[in-house]
Amino acid sequence: MSETVNGLTERQGIYLLSHSVGLPLPNAERAAAKAFWTPWETGNGDIWQHWLGTIEAFRAELALLLNSNIGNICPQSSLSSAVGKVIYSLDLAADKKVILLSEEDFPSIAFALQKGVSSGYTLKFIDAGADTSDMTIWRSQMTEDVGLVLVTHVQSNNGRQLPVQQITDLARSRQILSLVDVAQSVGILPINLAQWQADFVVGSCVKWIGGGPGAAFLWVDSPMIEHCQPQSVGWFSHQDPFEFDIHHFRYADDALRFWGGTPTVYPFAVAANSVQAINAIGVNNIRQNNLELSDQIIQAVPSEALISPVQEDLRGGTLVLDFGRRQDAVMRRLINLNVHFDCRVKGMRLSPHTCNNEDQIGALIKCF
Ligand SMILES: Cc1ncc(COP(=O)(O)O)c(C=O)c1O
Repeated sequence: MSETVNGLTERQGIYLLSHSVGLPLPNAERAAAKAFWTPWETGNGDIWQHWLGTIEAFRAELALLLNSNIGNICPQSSLSSAVGKVIYSLDLAADKKVILLSEEDFPSIAFALQKGVSSGYTLKFIDAGADTSDMTIWRSQMTEDVGLVLVTHVQSNNGRQLPVQQITDLARSRQILSLVDVAQSVGILPINLAQWQADFVVGSCVKWIGGGPGAAFLWVDSPMIEHCQPQSVGWFSHQDPFEFDIHHFRYADDALRFWGGTPTVYPFAVAANSVQAINAIGVNNIRQNNLELSDQIIQAVPSEALISPVQEDLRGGTLVLDFGRRQDAVMRRLINLNVHFDCRVKGMRLSPHTCNNEDQIGALIKCF
């Protein structure tokens, strides 16, 4: 049996894995049935009309969440596939072919960027040991040959939040394009894309949004769109997908030029409902709850065991803990208490979300 807390599903046990797969909403199946199955099963009217409306609703909710416009958002299947499309849509100058990233970025994104090497790009990595929340690092690494910088808003192994605004401002002032990965921040940290003025942003709904896999997205800044010529296209990248002139391809005027062939619909039907719920609760409220529950944990942990930053504006929604020699014993106690968490190279990861409450955290910290 499951019950509902603040509109999100509470599982038996203590679910702290929203950095990996966020829980679905209690009404997820019903919402998907309405937006996806019913139009298909009944066959009433134009099925694609309904389905495209569902994807439109997804883009509209996301635009609201990110303070942007629907025309800047293109549905994608994953972040790395979006990054692959971005890299082959650009024509960076011969003396600006270096892509700057960090060894603490997510490997999937680096793999996609790596494929740009065949187009003459070189990857330059910031060392894993460097503090990427320190602007000195970015100032020294954004050299004249850098044409594109990858910024991971929240790094997944260490829970660190990067000063995206400062990094995108610096990039812009040095004629460097910026690509921001919000996989670990969207749905838990407030994001204002109108302010950031990055060139590209990639994200998905599988983590804090609780919208399931397959509903990823690419955001492109308005002035950037017309400079992009994606190589991977299909009829939904066309300005008029229903023109059907085989000799005449024109890019869509908006970010949909990054779309492709016949799109998937189901993941966006699930995710549209989840993003709507996040908007209804308010991301500031969600973050506040996350901070309060995280602080409850931080206060119960010896300072040397806290790997993720303690300062609020330097951390994401995930706490990373390493109790040294006691780590295995603590993890065994958590597992016995039916706590859902995981462990990566830097420590165990715990992500308090709307499905958690103080009592759960109170029980959990007794395991330390
Ligand atoms: C920071 C970050 N970026 C990207 C991803 C996933 O990328 P993709 O959608 O290509 O699988 C993850 C998944 O954990 C992540 O933590």
